[in-house]
Amino acid sequence: MLTGGGDCPGLNAVMRAVVRRGSRGWGDEILGFRDGWKGVVEGSTRPLDVEAMRGTLPRGGTVLGSSRTNPFKIDGGVERCQQSLAEHGVEALIAIGGEDTLGVAAKLHELGVKVVGVPKTIDNDLSATELTFGFDTAVQICVDAIDRLHTTAESHDRVMVVEVMGRHAGHIATWAGIAGGATMTLIPEEPFDIEEVCSALIERHTKGRFASIVVVAEGASPKAGTLELASGEMDQFGHVRLGGIGNLLAAEIESRTGFETRVTILGHIQRGGTPTAFDRVLATRFGVAAIEAVHDGAFGQMVALKAGEIVRVPLREAVGELKLVDPALYQGVAEVFFH
Ligand code: F6P
Repeated sequence: MLTGGGDCPGLNAVMRAVVRRGSRGWGDEILGFRDGWKGVVEGSTRPLDVEAMRGTLPRGGTVLGSSRTNPFKIDGGVERCQQSLAEHGVEALIAIGGEDTLGVAAKLHELGVKVVGVPKTIDNDLSATELTFGFDTAVQICVDAIDRLHTTAESHDRVMVVEVMGRHAGHIATWAGIAGGATMTLIPEEPFDIEEVCSALIERHTKGRFASIVVVAEGASPKAGTLELASGEMDQFGHVRLGGIGNLLAAEIESRTGFETRVTILGHIQRGGTPTAFDRVLATRFGVAAIEAVHDGAFGQMVALKAGEIVRVPLREAVGELKLVDPALYQGVAEVFFH
């Protein structure tokens, strides 16, 4: 088993479920690879049994560690993976991760590795599953923060910009914006016009209202040619390090409207700490389903949530397309409360 990519509340709950079901149901011996695909490349492992997983259900993060290492970007990385799986007598691999980690799993499966995937990302942007664990926790963390920011925004009559995670899709922003009563929510799917944002804020304040909360997803971007965004470093999967749109937005709002504006970047706080009950249950269901898939020989598959049921979908399909925010939710519900 391995956990790859950004950590996520509920990873330990998945592994605990795999271990319990596997060892008690079939007498499986479970081995964890440390730090995602890096542990497979380097042959770095730790045994995972019921005792090792005890007490981890409410713990955030991952007891195995994680990384964004991509064996396909390392010289001889794939061969080293195959060799270390053989050396450790691995009969099946459960890869718990997002688009990148599962993309590697899909490619390795095509090369003969017996792998089952479990979807993980707080961003909830994997198209093959209706929900990923960690998303509910991240949204709750954002809503708690927004509730607190409301009171300070009111006391000082300020505009509060809250930057949340969401690289390609604005699920966290949309849910947090609706649940937190945001004045406006900006998401990657809908490039924003700074002029429109500012005039909506001015209109609201002219009507006598104040203390506006603007939620912005880290991957949101201005309409082409309106504002310049700084670009950051890239990781092994070619992702730019995000985090900064909030500062740019706050500076523009303050200078264009004259309203005192502050920014809060929630960043990795959204990924930390204890998973909600919902995420613990979903993670546990995924873990049980993953080890059952292994015993059914359902390799090259990922467990997923569809219409409330746990199903299996081909890994290739799971990493093929991103799930974006449903316009019916953004335009039909979130936008109703703008200004
Ligand atoms: O993919 C999940 C995610 O939380 C993104 O929303 C965010 O852009 C990224 O991880 C941040 O990753 P890192 O931990 O590498 O800074």
